[in-house]
Amino acid sequence: MGALADDTADDTSYPPPMMRLFPADGTVDRLPDEARALRLIEGTLVGVLHEHGYAEVVVPLLERDGVWAADDAVRLVDRSGALLGLRPDFTGSVARLVATRWPADEAACVSYRGTVFREVDNHRGERRQRQQVGFERIGSRGAAGDAHDDVHVLRTARRALHAIGVDATLTLGSAAVVEALCPQAAPDVRAALDARDGTALPPSLCALLTLHGPAKATLARATATLPPSTHAALAGLQAIVAGLGDEAHGVVVDLAEVRPWSWYSGAVFSFTVDGVARAVCAGGRYDGVVGRFGADRPAVGATIDVDALLERPTIGAAGPGPLRVALPKGRLQRDVLRALGAQAPSPEALSSRALVLPGGDGTLSFLLVKDPDIAAYVERGVADVGVVGLDVLRERGGDVLEPLDLPFGRCRLCLCGRPDLAVASILSRRTLRVATKYPKLTRQALAARGLPAEVIPMQGSVELAVVSGLADAIVDLVETGATLRENGLVAHDELFVSTARVVVNRAAFRRRAAAVDAFLSALATAATPA
Ligand code: PRP
Repeated sequence: MGALADDTADDTSYPPPMMRLFPADGTVDRLPDEARALRLIEGTLVGVLHEHGYAEVVVPLLERDGVWAADDAVRLVDRSGALLGLRPDFTGSVARLVATRWPADEAACVSYRGTVFREVDNHRGERRQRQQVGFERIGSRGAAGDAHDDVHVLRTARRALHAIGVDATLTLGSAAVVEALCPQAAPDVRAALDARDGTALPPSLCALLTLHGPAKATLARATATLPPSTHAALAGLQAIVAGLGDEAHGVVVDLAEVRPWSWYSGAVFSFTVDGVARAVCAGGRYDGVVGRFGADRPAVGATIDVDALLERPTIGAAGPGPLRVALPKGRLQRDVLRALGAQAPSPEALSSRALVLPGGDGTLSFLLVKDPDIAAYVERGVADVGVVGLDVLRERGGDVLEPLDLPFGRCRLCLCGRPDLAVASILSRRTLRVATKYPKLTRQALAARGLPAEVIPMQGSVELAVVSGLADAIVDLVETGATLRENGLVAHDELFVSTARVVVNRAAFRRRAAAVDAFLSALATAATPA
C-alpha cells in the first residue's frame, strides 16, 4: 500500500501545503506561454546578431569572484573554500574568455544569451533573476577609430529590437566626459548622477544635468559650455552621431546618462520604450577591461534585457494622454496641490473616495498614493512622475530619477526621547532600544555614530513607544515639534534633513520629455519664492 493511502502514516512525513516550495525570492519559474515568448524573443535577437557577424558563445553561469562589472553577484563558497558567484552580467565572462582564448590579432565579435542573477533589495519585490541577450565587439578598431565600432553596435542593437517590433529611444552619454570633469568619481557620485540628484553632486558635474536633448544641438551646447578637457570625448560622441547618418534622427544626447559601474571608458547608451522603467538595451565602450584578464583590447558591447521586453505589454504604456502623477496622500499633498494650481484635481474630486482623479485642466491625471508607495508606482511606470519626501524615498528605495528638490515639506529625522535620556549610561549596561518608522535610515545613522541599538520597526504614533516604556528612544520626523512637546519628549540629535522631491520614471523622462519638463517647471516656479 502506498504511503499516501496509509492512514497510519506519520502526518509529518509529508510537507503540509504551506510548505510547498516556490522559487527562491526574486527568482521565477516560466510556464509554457511565457517560456515560448521568451525563447521566441531570444531566438529572433540571436538570429539578427548572427546576421550582423556576432557568433554565439556560451560562458559558465558560475565564475570566480571578481570577474564582473557589477559588485552585486550572488556569492557562494565551494568545498575548496574558493569564493564563486553566479554571473550578474555576461560582459566580464566574455572579456575573460576573449582575453584567454582568442587569438591576439583577431577581433572577437560574439553574442550570448542566458540568465544573470543579482542581489536585490527584496522588500521592493525586485527580481534577482533576469534573462539577457547581448553582444560584444572586442579587439576591433576600424579605420575611423572607436566610432566605427560603436556605430556598428548601436545599429545592430536597433535592428535586433526592430526585429521583435520594438521602436526604442536611443540615448547617448559619455563616461569619458564624466571622467574628464570628475576623475575617478566615487560610486555615490555616479549614483547621484544616474538619479539626476543635483543635491548630491560636486559642482563640476552639475552642468551635465542640463545637457540633454536632441543629439546635435545638445552636443553643440555642451562644446560651448563645458571645459576643453571634455572636448575630445564630445568629439567622440559627434563622430558616433555622424556615423549613424539618417538613423541619428530622434537620438537623444544626455550627458548625465551614466552606467552605474565605473568600468565604462567612452560612449555609453541606452534604449528606452514606453511603460518599462529600465532600459530594454544598454551598453557602452569599456576599453581597459579585457586587459584585466590578459592582453588589453578595445571593447564595446550591448545587453538586451529580455525580461524588460516581456514586461512591456503588461504595463499601461504612456500614451499621448495626461501625464500621470502619483500624488502623496500625506502632509505633502497640500503643498503639491497649491503649487500645481489649475492643473490640480477639483476640491469635489479630492473630497471623494476615488483614488484616480482627473486634473483640473486635462494636462495631468492623479493617482492618490500612500507616501511610502510613491516610488513603486513611479519606478514601475504606472505613474510618470510623483512627489515624495526624501526620508521616505531613502528608507524605501526606488530606481527613479530625482531631478527636482522642492523647498517645502522640510522636516528633520531626529533621535528623540525623554529630556533625561542618557544614552551613554544605557549603553554601559545594555543595547539601546529605538523604535521608528524608518528602520533602515535609523540603523545607518546609529551605526555611523557608533551606537549599538536594537531597532524596533513601528507603523506610526511612535512617540508612544517611549512614553509607554517600549523603547528608550525613537527616531522620528520632527516638523513643528508639537507632537514631541505634547508627549514630554525632546529631540536629542538630528540624523537626516528631508525635503520633498519630485521623482520621475526613467522611461517617461525620455519618452514624455516635454510633458515631464512642463511638470518640473510648474513645480519649480511655484516653489520659488517671488
Ligand atoms: C509624524 C511624525 C511625528 C509627527 C511630527 O507623524 O511621525 O509623529 O508627524 O510632526 P510635528 O513635529 O509637526 O508634531 P504623522 O502625523 O505622520 O502620524 P503617525 O505618527 O501616525 O505616522
